[in-house]
Amino acid sequence: MFTRLSIILCIILMDTRPSPVYGQNSKSKAETQNSLGEGAAAALSIAERADREIFFEANIRPILVDKCVKCHNDQKTSGGLKLLSHQNILKGGDNGPAIVPGNSNKSLISLAIGRKSEEIAPMPPKESLAKNQIQDLNRWINDGAIWPDSVSKLISNSTQMKLEAGR
Ligand code: HEC
Repeated sequence: MFTRLSIILCIILMDTRPSPVYGQNSKSKAETQNSLGEGAAAALSIAERADREIFFEANIRPILVDKCVKCHNDQKTSGGLKLLSHQNILKGGDNGPAIVPGNSNKSLISLAIGRKSEEIAPMPPKESLAKNQIQDLNRWINDGAIWPDSVSKLISNSTQMKLEAGR
């Protein structure tokens, strides 16, 4: 809660503070940002990064928590894959990194949720994600798969133990 608030505060500050770049010449903020380059994660402005962190919290984290981590956690690592942290996802499972940031076409998670790959099993195994959930995950990957630094693990160890006990 606190981090989400501070992200929002940060955006408000960014937008209202008189800035030498936006204030003194006639370039709009959008034009200035476009001239920085095509969405490379390294060139993200603070506001863009904050936007993507909010997108992660609102759309991506709930999908991973509700639909994926019960089979991809510290205790149960189906396919050799944990999906609890940014590190876990970049490291991947038996077939290598689960995502290629910026490229959903090459990302195993996208292949898995797309359910059309011959190499990667459909995920979740039984029931497809909703169309908008698939779109959100692909958008998140294509936008650089931004993961807030404050989220070291999606669910706590004790929640994992409960998942384990519930099976
Ligand atoms: C009911 C358990 C279960 C759920 C839920 C589940 N998976 Fe899996 N997942 C598996 C199993 C089992 C494998 C190994 C399949 C195989 O090798 O044939 C796997 C493999 C994968 C792989 C391939 C890993 C590799 O390197 O080979 C990816 C990517 C993946 N899952 C992503 C997801 C995502 C994303 C979700 C949520 C949308 C999800 N899974 C939900 C059981 C699950």
